[in-house]
Amino acid sequence: MTVTDSTTGILFGGDYNPEQWSEDVWADDIRLMKQAGVNTASVGIFAWSSIEPEEGRYEFGWLDRVIEMLHDNGIGVILATPTASPPPWFSKAHPEALPTTREGVRLVHGSRDTYNPAAPAYRAAAAAVARALAERYGAHPAIRAWHLHNEYGTVSYGPLVDAEFRTWLQARYGDLATLNRVWHTSFWSQGYAAWDEILAPQQTQYLPNPTQVLDFKRFSADLLLACYQEQIDIVRELSAAPITTNFILPPWLHFDHWNFADASDFVSIDHYVDAAGADGAAHTAFGSDQARSFARGKPWLLMEQAANTTQVGKRILAKVPGQVLANSVQHVARGAFGILFFQWRAPYSGAEFFHSTMVPHAGENTRVFREVTELGALLGRMGELVAQPSAADSAADTPVTGVVNRPRVAIAWDADAWWAAETAGLPSDGFSFHRSARRVHRALWFMGVNVDFVRLDHDLSRYDVVLVPSQLMVTDAQAASLRGFVEAGGHAVVWYFSGTFDGDLHIIPGGYSGAFADLLGVRVEELLPIADGETVELDDGHTASDWSERIELRGAEVLVRFAHGSAQGRARGGAQAAGLPAITRNVVGAGSATYVSTEPDDAGLAAVLANVLARAGVEPDAPGAGDGLEAVRRYAGEGSYLFLINHPDRPRETSAVGTDILSGTAYDGPLTMEPGDMLVLREASASRPN
Ligand code: GLA
Repeated sequence: MTVTDSTTGILFGGDYNPEQWSEDVWADDIRLMKQAGVNTASVGIFAWSSIEPEEGRYEFGWLDRVIEMLHDNGIGVILATPTASPPPWFSKAHPEALPTTREGVRLVHGSRDTYNPAAPAYRAAAAAVARALAERYGAHPAIRAWHLHNEYGTVSYGPLVDAEFRTWLQARYGDLATLNRVWHTSFWSQGYAAWDEILAPQQTQYLPNPTQVLDFKRFSADLLLACYQEQIDIVRELSAAPITTNFILPPWLHFDHWNFADASDFVSIDHYVDAAGADGAAHTAFGSDQARSFARGKPWLLMEQAANTTQVGKRILAKVPGQVLANSVQHVARGAFGILFFQWRAPYSGAEFFHSTMVPHAGENTRVFREVTELGALLGRMGELVAQPSAADSAADTPVTGVVNRPRVAIAWDADAWWAAETAGLPSDGFSFHRSARRVHRALWFMGVNVDFVRLDHDLSRYDVVLVPSQLMVTDAQAASLRGFVEAGGHAVVWYFSGTFDGDLHIIPGGYSGAFADLLGVRVEELLPIADGETVELDDGHTASDWSERIELRGAEVLVRFAHGSAQGRARGGAQAAGLPAITRNVVGAGSATYVSTEPDDAGLAAVLANVLARAGVEPDAPGAGDGLEAVRRYAGEGSYLFLINHPDRPRETSAVGTDILSGTAYDGPLTMEPGDMLVLREASASRPN
């Protein structure tokens, strides 16, 4: 099961939707693909109505011709199942399989993702079209991989969902007494006497039951995983090609990346940069660090990015010249074995006609297509990065397995914790798991420090620093795992309100952040959220916002105290913590546990991180990295490669030893990187870690 081999090098290409064009355009597609160095096309993603125009009647002729044409021209196919976009005949025949919103509105056909994952008719139709495709193309030599569905993430409500939810709850709790206890249904007279009284948490009069809502999110994620698994089982039976589904990485979450990755042969992500300049580069690093982390040693691929546009607020901005090259190389530095785009050619009509493409509306004689071609050539010079790493890994017969980067710092990432932070009725509506994780990741990126994501109950022993920015809910196993990590010499940083809830979303008695209280050496007696828009001063000269607490020390030392708040803050409660500990540290065994009980400003956050990194002896992968000069070491074959990217700003000094595989130039010591410069240095000295 290989997606890449010594002949393919790094995969390069994108979503290819020839069903949207007349066949006379196809030959021109091939000509331009060859010109750009495209070696991979993802086909069929939303093509259900072209493949199955009526129930059970398949039209494979056009797809046969497309696959043969690509194959004849040396372009590999990632074949999709089209199940994210049911055709009109399906919705007409099965209106109950349309999605229903939380408000109880059943949506109609007319866009994509118009399906209800709990509807038996949808599941059967999806399975049938997946089987038909796998039977016809499963053994075709052009098929490099399967791309099942597109961006799983649809949530639905309604009677079919209620029934599935009850079945899921019965499996989880066994009996109603247990469910009533875990959901604490004695509050507001919610005690259930029969299973069929239970509904999915649709819009109701006032605050919903918190654990019911959390369980529904867990259930919805499991339902999507079941849809994915059904297709995996069908395709596996009929094809040896590896299987993936493209993860969407937005600020909302409807599935669990970890278990979707476990079910996949390789991970793939769609990444759309949401900021300009260095912040966009930081966001790119965030996405690819997630992909590599979720993959846990399996290969990963960038399945979609935009060739030219960035959605910033309500405008679609153009990428600056060179940006798509730099962003792509960032992904490769972090382990991607392929760089693909949504999509190949710009349509002149259809919903996404202004989404940028590899071949723009204005055609081949454009800056964008020239950069795409340049990128193809650049990636073509990096083929050795997908070499088989070692005898042990080759036995597994997958490319790029095992360690591709080796960050010593990890950020805790957990779907349950994300959903817990969305609970209504918390003391602040400012919690966002995604925002907190991204803020810490961004701060580290600007410090030049590379980072993984990890679930706290995974193996933490390969890290020196574990950061826990917003893990409001923690299981006993996760709390024990973090303690074991610190006792063994690791350094942890835990942010406010983390560890306040147990795995059932119940507050742990005895003080907030109770799951981590012993480890942190503090008792959080009282929560003192700071009014919206207010800041308070810390005695290290930084400011902070959002949150403060009345903390009693139980072994921890104080690193920083709250000084005093603004006048408005005093009037509105923001300064109540004046004089109290803001940041503490507890030494445990050979390690330490730092607690940050507020939201420091950017400089304050960098200071907290610098402190713990210094304690753990963690440094960037190259001297001078940070603040827009990116240094990432990627392991491949038996050796290592140092990627240096100077995101356009100013010349930067660093130092490295190795030969740049892009230009063939050898470097041996101090060097200056001009804005936009990129080097991929094959290092003679470093060797691949286990
Ligand atoms: C997603 C989808 C694509 C396309 C892009 C546009 O990633 O998978 O089909 O809609 O968004 O940004």
